[in-house]
Amino acid sequence: MEECKGLPELKSTLRYLECYITRHFHDEERLMKEIGYPDLSAHMLEHEYFRRAVQKLKAEIHDNGASTRTLMLTERTICSWINEHIFKTDRKIGVYMREGEERNDPPLPA
Ligand SMILES: [Fe+2]
Repeated sequence: MEECKGLPELKSTLRYLECYITRHFHDEERLMKEIGYPDLSAHMLEHEYFRRAVQKLKAEIHDNGASTRTLMLTERTICSWINEHIFKTDRKIGVYMREGEERNDPPLPA
């Protein structure tokens, strides 16, 4: 922010997050459906929550530009997502898939 790079960096981060939401959520939700993942609905709710959080962030940045508040809000949103969703919720998919190998679930279609 001291170098006046705050707003371009925030906008770039938002573009990345929107791309991540569009591509990654779609792929992950498709995978969960294919493997019959039992916590699909709860997982999709967390995706929707993050989608809305990013939209709120976008509105906040649009209305107020780069500020200490928008920077901290962005950092908090991303850190919370990584720690609470990626490190916990997403990992459960991998655990379920490994257990599926032990259960001899049919292989995923190519
Ligand atoms: Fe996820």
